Amino acid sequence: MLKGVSALARPGAARASTTALRASSPLSTFPLSDSTPTVPCSYAGSASDYEGDLLVIPFWQTADDAVVDVGAATTANAWNEELEGLLVDLAAERDFKGAKGSGCLVSVSKKRNGVGKVALYGLGRKDEAEGDAYRGLGAYAAKTARDERAASVGVAAPSRTRDAWRDVAKVEALVLGCHEANYVDNRFRTGENVKDGTALEKLLLVDEPPDADDAAPDDAYADSLLSETPYEDVEKAGGRAAAIAEGCKLARDLVNAPPNVLTPRTLAIAAVDLAKSHAHLDCTCMGRVECERRGMGAFLGVSQGSSDAHEAQFIHLTYKKGVPRTKLCIVGKGLTYDSGGYNLKPSAGGSIELMKFDMGGSAATLGCAAAVAGLGVDDVEVHFIVAACENMISQDAMRPGDVLTASNGKTIEVINTDAEGRLTLADALVYAEALKPDAIVDLATLTGACVVALGDDVAGLFSKDDALASELEAAASSAMEQVWRMPMPPAYEKDIESTIADLKNVGPRAGGAITAALFLGHFVEDTPHAHVDIAGPVWNGKAGEATGFGVKTMAQWVEARAAVPADAVF
Ligand code: BES
Ligand code: MN
Ligand code: ZN
Repeated sequence: MLKGVSALARPGAARASTTALRASSPLSTFPLSDSTPTVPCSYAGSASDYEGDLLVIPFWQTADDAVVDVGAATTANAWNEELEGLLVDLAAERDFKGAKGSGCLVSVSKKRNGVGKVALYGLGRKDEAEGDAYRGLGAYAAKTARDERAASVGVAAPSRTRDAWRDVAKVEALVLGCHEANYVDNRFRTGENVKDGTALEKLLLVDEPPDADDAAPDDAYADSLLSETPYEDVEKAGGRAAAIAEGCKLARDLVNAPPNVLTPRTLAIAAVDLAKSHAHLDCTCMGRVECERRGMGAFLGVSQGSSDAHEAQFIHLTYKKGVPRTKLCIVGKGLTYDSGGYNLKPSAGGSIELMKFDMGGSAATLGCAAAVAGLGVDDVEVHFIVAACENMISQDAMRPGDVLTASNGKTIEVINTDAEGRLTLADALVYAEALKPDAIVDLATLTGACVVALGDDVAGLFSKDDALASELEAAASSAMEQVWRMPMPPAYEKDIESTIADLKNVGPRAGGAITAALFLGHFVEDTPHAHVDIAGPVWNGKAGEATGFGVKTMAQWVEARAAVPADAVF
């Protein structure tokens, strides 16, 4: 096996021309955006004492949908009084009821503590998804800081939840929301098209001192007054959010990169870069020749139509720290471009111009590696695996009708060259299982059918293993990413039976996401396996950019697995 960068610089393919190599060799590191999403965060005491550029004061939506009584909140009271009722007036004028995502801002001309602006923000109803409310608050703080060019932003604990900053989950959600909203990708813009980055340098969390007299204190707050360990975990939570945000940023940078920049080779370079910048992370890459030697005929069949400069790369990152209690494999679909091949995607409705995002699974996989390494998760071994290639047309490309042989010896009739993801994953899954992990999870932009079933925001979760499926549902829920478990009826297996080979690579149109998942099942023998189809949520169509979907869920899952003693579950 070839180690590290040498494998990339080496003309892995005998037929590689020097011109092709020269064309892609100047890149020794992969160009990532200079977006600086991570900002230090600390607890800074009382809201009345806040000093900085912008103070954001959040409110829960009122039960009776009335305008928020801003003056009744201790976090706002001192400010409102000294500003002669300005905040109460602002709420009345803007009809501010605390509806989720609503905000209003007023300039206070540094009349108190040098603060230039104060904003009121609506968290929505307190009994609805709380974590989501804090993430929205972080995003609002980031967005307002960017618009107002604020370097220091204070965020007050919401009235009726004045102990918020004692809860690491809330701090983490807030800071992560802030970091994600700070993301800007200017790599492919010049001149006046370059977007403003954030001016934010620090995030300060403020609340009220325990002796403050709130008009509506709740039980949680009363309890928190007895706590002996206030606020000490804020910075730690901020650091955790930063590590996860770094992983999300990496995934977004990789997916956003156009397919002439992000090729199998440059994706492998990005993986090597990542391993170099983190302790406990190592990267090994294999070129076409090594994959041929391993019999990865399904994977290589897909990449057959590509030029040598864009030849296949098999990427394997390993994270190992402490005394591993569990060994996990995360596999990502890594089609750096999917034209459909001879079953070319149609101009109308085929999203062919968006098919750079077909490596979203691999981006989430590398992003998860970055997050796990950044968090420094203890006592776990995780393998991150990507069979990276393109799906192109040429005289060498695979044809509809070809029969390919995967590395486990199974033969596959290629009915449709556009059902290529499952072919690459087949060999990646066989490779993963040979590492003898306790579980394998793959993430893939696998089917348009999954988007039809679940829409743009929800990923499909497929697993025959109920325990693994529940773990992933729990991880997704705490990561605030939406997944929905889908069935894998054995009766549908007949739909991927071939008349000439062991399997065919497509079933009927109906249930296309399910037959794709069943197909993958033929390449994992007896290891718990889950497949997550992220074809919908990988991309934010409205913003025209990557979401980084999957990083948070997978990082959460790895942490949860690492925390459970091996004999407790396995
Ligand atoms: N990468 C696509 C799936 C996809 C389509 C993701 C649209 C996001 C948006 C995948 O390789 C593909 O082309 N799948 C085919 C399978 C079909 C030929 C059985 C599809 O979904 O149409
Ligand atoms: Mn395809
Ligand atoms: Zn694809």
